[in-house]
Amino acid sequence: MSYELTHLDKEAAQPLKSADELVGDFSFTSSASVRSDEQVAQMLKNPGFGSEFSDYMAHATWRAGEGWTDKVIEPYGALSLEPAAAVLHYGQEIFEGLKAYRHDDGSIWTFRPTYNAARLNKSNRRMAIPELPIEDFVSSLVNLVRADERYVPSGEGSSLYLRPFIFASEPFLGVRAARQYEYLVIASPSGPYFTNGFQPINVWVETEYHRAGPGGMGDAKTGGNYAASLLPKVVAHDQGFDEVMFLDAATNTNIDELGGMNVFVVMADGSVKTPQLNGNILPGGTRSSILQLLDSRGVRTSEELIRYDELIDGIRTGDVAELFACGTAAVVTPIGSLTGADFKVEIPSGPVTQSIYDELTAIQLGHVEDKFNWLYRLV
Ligand SMILES: Cc1ncc(COP(=O)(O)O)c(C=O)c1O
Repeated sequence: MSYELTHLDKEAAQPLKSADELVGDFSFTSSASVRSDEQVAQMLKNPGFGSEFSDYMAHATWRAGEGWTDKVIEPYGALSLEPAAAVLHYGQEIFEGLKAYRHDDGSIWTFRPTYNAARLNKSNRRMAIPELPIEDFVSSLVNLVRADERYVPSGEGSSLYLRPFIFASEPFLGVRAARQYEYLVIASPSGPYFTNGFQPINVWVETEYHRAGPGGMGDAKTGGNYAASLLPKVVAHDQGFDEVMFLDAATNTNIDELGGMNVFVVMADGSVKTPQLNGNILPGGTRSSILQLLDSRGVRTSEELIRYDELIDGIRTGDVAELFACGTAAVVTPIGSLTGADFKVEIPSGPVTQSIYDELTAIQLGHVEDKFNWLYRLV
C-alpha cells in the first residue's frame, strides 16, 4: 500500500511567493544591542539546543475585528504581559518547530515550511485560535532569518531552530476563547543531535499515563499535551530511560507515539509501518516525508494500528528488524530497547534507519536533488 497524502500534505503543496517577494512584510525595528560577530561565532561553536537565542524575533498581534496586525521584526526580549492573560490560566496556545539550514554555497533554506504553516492552522482550529495566513507564516520566517542570518550555523546536523508560537494575551478570566493573541517566532542555533553517530535511545512503554485521548487535542501541537507527558517522563528518566512511548488512551494496547516524536517499525520482510493518525498522534512532517521517501524507493509502507504486545513479540521472534523515532529535532533516532512493567526487549539499529537519516539530511543540506520540492530558499 502506498502513502495517501493527508489534508496537511495537500494544503502544504500550494504555490508560494519567493522570499524576495516577502521581504518587508514584517517591518524591521533594529536592535541597539546586537551581539558582535565574535560573540556569534563563539555561540555557534557549541550551541546545544534551545538555550541561546538570536538578536531578533518576529511578532504580530490579532485583535477581534482587526485580524493580524502590527507585523514586526523586533529585538529579542522579554514580553510585557498582564497576569490575567488567558494563556496563563487556560493554556490557549499552540506552537511549531522547524529549522533553517545553511548550504555549502552560503545560501539558507528551510524544509517544508508550508507543512508547518498548515499544521499551525490545524492546531489553531482545535484550540479556537484564529488562523494565520500561510503567507504570513512563511514571511515571518523569511524576515526573521534575514535579520538573524549570522546565527545560521553550517555543518551536518547544525541549523537555526525556529520556534513559531501563538498564545492568548487578552487579560480576561472568563473561560472562553480569547479576543487577543500574539504570534511570535524566536530562533535558537542548534548543534548536531548525534555527535558520534547514532546513539539508540532506551524507551519506557507507559501503561499508566496517556498524553492524549479520544476527542482530545493530541493531534494539535499545544502545550497541554507536553504538560501531560512531563510526569511520566520524569518518572521514566529517574529509572534511566530516555523517552516514553505512549499508548492509545481508549484501549491501552496500541502504540501512539513518543512525547515528541513519531514511531516507525521496519519489518524483516522489508516493509515499514507506522501508527495510523487517530486524532491522538501529532501528524509529523518528518513522518510524512519518510513515508513519501520510502514510497519512492518502492518500499511497502502502511499506517495501521500497532499493538505493543505484538511489537514486543515481533522483536523477540525477529519479524521486526528495526525500530526508530522521528521528528524535526533529531530527524531519526534508533530505539535500542523497549521496557515495560513485565518485559524488556533490545533491538539493534539497522541500515534502513541509517539510510532514511542519510537521505533526509542530504535533501535538507542540498547535497542531493530535492525531487519532492520540499526546500524553500530563505536567503
Ligand atoms: C508529539 C510530537 N510528535 C511528533 C513530532 C514530530 O513532528 P515533526 O516531524 O513535524 O517535527 C513532534 C515534534 O514536533 C511532536 O512534538
